[in-house]
Amino acid sequence: MAFGHKHILGIEQLTKEDIQLILDTGEAFKEINQRDIKKVPTLRGKTIINAFFEASTRTRLSFEIAGKRLSADTVNISGSTSSVVKGETLEDTAKNIEAMAPDIIVIRHGHSGAPHYLAERLSGCSVVNAGDGAHEHPSQALLDLMTIRDHKGKIEGLEVAIVGDITHSRVARSDIYALTRMGAHVRLAGPGTMIPPGIERLGNVSVFNNMLDAIKGVDVVMMLRIQLERQGKTLLPSLREYARFFGLNPVNIQLAKDDAIIMHPGPMNRGVEISSFVADGPQNVILDQVANGVAVRMALLYLVSGVEMMQTQ
Ligand code: CP
Repeated sequence: MAFGHKHILGIEQLTKEDIQLILDTGEAFKEINQRDIKKVPTLRGKTIINAFFEASTRTRLSFEIAGKRLSADTVNISGSTSSVVKGETLEDTAKNIEAMAPDIIVIRHGHSGAPHYLAERLSGCSVVNAGDGAHEHPSQALLDLMTIRDHKGKIEGLEVAIVGDITHSRVARSDIYALTRMGAHVRLAGPGTMIPPGIERLGNVSVFNNMLDAIKGVDVVMMLRIQLERQGKTLLPSLREYARFFGLNPVNIQLAKDDAIIMHPGPMNRGVEISSFVADGPQNVILDQVANGVAVRMALLYLVSGVEMMQTQ
């Protein structure tokens, strides 16, 4: 099946078939990451710019590793070390990058819509969204799907609870699109101030004000970080109170199914949304998510590149 997208701007634009193709392609790349020599020539001669205007550990590293394992030339630029600090606009920065003829720009930006803005203005290269403001984080949702499928053997029919600051979470938005498109039911829980009104309209989604009701009998519990950098302090009386009502701990996790998996996109606020006992416990699959991030991002870079042959030797 052909992949009909030049850019990856969000899960919202992807069909169930697109998502299936990305996951299956990522599955084929997984084995490369277990080899002694973790490199194939698939993207030899291609240039990928990772432009991160916001902090990142997992996403930036895994896009860079993914590009290198596919033999692309990868170059990184960050907000703090670029001429953005001298006042250059995003459009000018991007046009200057484009003049150097990259094939793919991977961008993380604090403003929702920044990858769309670039995709509309840059004709010569693909744009991949690595997280834009509170809007979308498509590669995170795809690696989450891969991790769920690895552990549960399917996505369709699963009950998935997403708990935390839904309003400011691009991960939540992308996961809601991805999970519901693949046939899961999503339960959202968080303080009333952190659940956007009308979020149910995104698909097969139910909203709970009480976390205990939300996680009762679920297959997957996904905890979100409180995004203090994106919200006014008034949304939250105190972190201690938040942990009491919306933190996952050894007692309340027993409400989920016995074989429920626990996920977190990272970085974690241990002792706030998740206790260390649970984060390091037997049900956590958090580092599996990170490992799958490399395979999924290899799949995305390969699919948008338009290269016809997926070389794995
Ligand atoms: N999950 C995630 O986006 O982590 P980073 O901010 O470290 O990339």
